[in-house]
This record gives sequence, structure tokens and C-alpha cells, in this order.
Amino acid sequence: MAANSSPRGPILSIKPFLKWAGGKRWLVDRPEFKIPQYSGKYIEPFVGGGAVFFSHAPTQGIISDANSRLIDTYIAIKNDWRAVVANLEEHQKLHSKDYYYEMRSSKFEELHLRASQFLYLNRACWNGLYRENLRGEFNVPIGTKSKIVMDDDNFEYVSKVLQKTQILNEDFSVAISHATEGDLIFVDPPYTVAHNFNGFIKYNQNIFSWNDQIRLRDCLVDAKQRGARIMLTNASHDSIRELYSQLSSPIEITRASVIAGSSKNRVKTSELLYVV
Ligand SMILES: C[S@@+](CC[C@H](N)C(=O)[O-])C[C@H]1O[C@@H](n2cnc3c(N)ncnc32)[C@H](O)[C@@H]1O
Repeated sequence: MAANSSPRGPILSIKPFLKWAGGKRWLVDRPEFKIPQYSGKYIEPFVGGGAVFFSHAPTQGIISDANSRLIDTYIAIKNDWRAVVANLEEHQKLHSKDYYYEMRSSKFEELHLRASQFLYLNRACWNGLYRENLRGEFNVPIGTKSKIVMDDDNFEYVSKVLQKTQILNEDFSVAISHATEGDLIFVDPPYTVAHNFNGFIKYNQNIFSWNDQIRLRDCLVDAKQRGARIMLTNASHDSIRELYSQLSSPIEITRASVIAGSSKNRVKTSELLYVV
């Protein structure tokens, strides 16, 4: 990423430590991707695995997500990364098929134990997928990877980046409402479109409806009027172009992506990037 005068600490950027559906690690490495200049705080209302947040490592920021287990994990690492890592090392020692399913159904009270459970399941589960059943229980089967503690883990550094960050477990509208003049909002919602008839879109509609997309656009228009800058990614689809037509024109970014976890199923997909 090119250097710019936006507020970042004297710290190096790091890659995300979670595997996350829709993660934007690939985007950070693209030449089209440049964090626009801003003078205030950095706000990411759909932080997920935080690929952009951790690569940018802002000195002052707000991250937020609707997933409370994810957000608790960030809070635990911010508060006491050593306790989280010590317990993750225990999971590594005990890892097996039976242990995975035992951990998947276990409930812990203490924050650091819940965080290391979340990290363990994220690293040991099928394809790093996050999915819950109707009772709100994580229900992804075991995957093929058995490395739980990674050589390039640096939770001390993650914790340092999080020290100057406010961490919220809220709907996107709350995080965006904090944006004022000079701030930058990086927006990466679940992708849904107004009209398309394949299963993927239908599945995602339960998570993020077309009404949510309209609500998001309206929050962003308000934030822009308050003087914030916005960087937004979304699906390359006519309904999205139409939704944001008053705001600006997007750049289309094409990439090879893997469908259903197999490199045999490599297809070209496009996404839209707006910088306002
Ligand atoms: C595409 S992912 C973000 C990926 C992230 N940019 C990354 O690099 O990992 C979208 C995120 O939006 C969150 N989300 C879904 N609905 C939300 C809502 N109404 N408000 C806030 N977050 C929401 C999901 O939990 C998910 O983490």
C-alpha cells in the first residue's frame, strides 16, 4: 500500500489472524487499493477478520461487527493477549477430532477462554467458515488443518494496534453515526443484491437484506454530509450501481476466486470499490 499522510502509528501493518468469509486480504495487495487521505479517526463498521484495519493499523479508530463472539475475541486480545495465547497453546496440545467436537459444544464464562475457543475453532474448522444453527450454536465440522498456533502469530502486536481502538458490537448504523468531519469509514458489508436468483444471494439475504443495503447507503450519505470520507466495497451488480449512483462511480476490480474450497473451481469474479 502506498504511504500517505493519514494518521497511522509508528507500527508495521499485520495480516489478519482469522480466516473470515469475504475477507479483504486480497484487496489490500491490489494496486487499485489506496487508503484515501484523512485527518481524523478510522471507522470500520463490518470489521470481520479486519484485513484492511490490521494492514492500515490506524492510531485512532472504531471497529464494530454484529458478531458478538468475534468482537469478544478482539476485546480479550486487547485486554490480555498473553492469557488468550496461553490457552490457545493448550488447544494446540490437545487437538484431535474428539477434542474439536468437545470444544465446539463447550461454553466458557471467562473472556480469554471464549476468545481462545473462538480462535481454535476458526483455525481447526472446515475452511475457516463461521456458521451458526438456529439456536445460535457454532456448527461447522472439523477441517483438515491441525496447526492451531501459527509461526507468524503476533498477538502482542495485535493487542498494541487495538489499544487505541474503540471496539463495538453494534449494528453498522451505530459505528457510522460516530463519523464526523475528517474521518474515514471503510465499509465492507455482506454482499447482497436486489434481484438475482442463485442460492448464494438467497442465503445471504437472511444475513443482510436488501433493506439493510438501502439503510447502509442512507447512513453513508449522512456521514458524507457530515464531512467523512468513505471507502466502500460491494458486489458488482446493476442494483448496487443504481443504489450508489448519486454518490459516485465505482472502480471494478476483477480477481480469480475459489468456489466451494477447491482450486479446481477457480472462476473470475468482480467487485466494486467506491472512494468518496
Ligand atoms: C464481508 S464481512 C467483512 C470482512 C472483513 N472486511 C474482512 O476483511 O475480514 C461482513 C461482516 O459484516 C458483519 N455484519 C453483518 N451484518 C451486520 C450488521 N447489520 N451490522 C454490523 N456488522 C454486520 C458480519 O458479521 C461480517 O463479519
